[in-house]
Amino acid sequence: MNKKTRMGVFVSGSGSNLQALIDAKIPSVEIVVVVSNNPDAYAIERAKKNKIPVEVIDHRNYSSREDFEREIQKRLDQYKVDLIALAGFMRILTPLFIRNYKNRIMNLHPALLPSFPGTNAVKQALMYGVKFTGCTVHFVDEGVDTGPIILQAVVPIYDTDTEESLLERIHKEEHRIYPEAVRLFGEGKLRIEGRRVLVSE
Ligand code: GRF
Repeated sequence: MNKKTRMGVFVSGSGSNLQALIDAKIPSVEIVVVVSNNPDAYAIERAKKNKIPVEVIDHRNYSSREDFEREIQKRLDQYKVDLIALAGFMRILTPLFIRNYKNRIMNLHPALLPSFPGTNAVKQALMYGVKFTGCTVHFVDEGVDTGPIILQAVVPIYDTDTEESLLERIHKEEHRIYPEAVRLFGEGKLRIEGRRVLVSE
């Protein structure tokens, strides 16, 4: 087998998607570090339980986004990270950082992009009244939730849904498609042509 992809997972909160990535045990990908900007994120416990190194870089200790990212970059270099998976990471990355990892940062969004980008996507979909929403794994470009789409999954919205019940069903799909997208990357099966990501299985 070729060299394993060395992945860093960026988190800020619960980390259920980090857990899904750990549990998937993807043969071609190794999670070499978990980066959290939030010292209290539950995701940190999940990483520790699985003996994955954790780097807590609290953005509040840096006077600018650039300084914060310089620190992230320094730590990533130590782990020789070649893929970044954002998994509930609540900070916006600057174009400079994104350019350094061109087509090597993935994000997960709890809606069918390009519908409902930004924050509160689940609530936005519910309030809008769409009958289907879902989740999207995409490469990160310089916009907010605008990068080339890798995988999506559709989730129906029922009349009885609350934000919580809908989120629970979206999470189920997220936990399935995020590891799948990472596996495809690790196996070299993703090819980007303009806005399209072609999958060769
Ligand atoms: C997910 O719903 C993801 O779509 C969004 O943030 C949430 C993270 O959840 N970007 P978790 O921390 O992985 O449980």
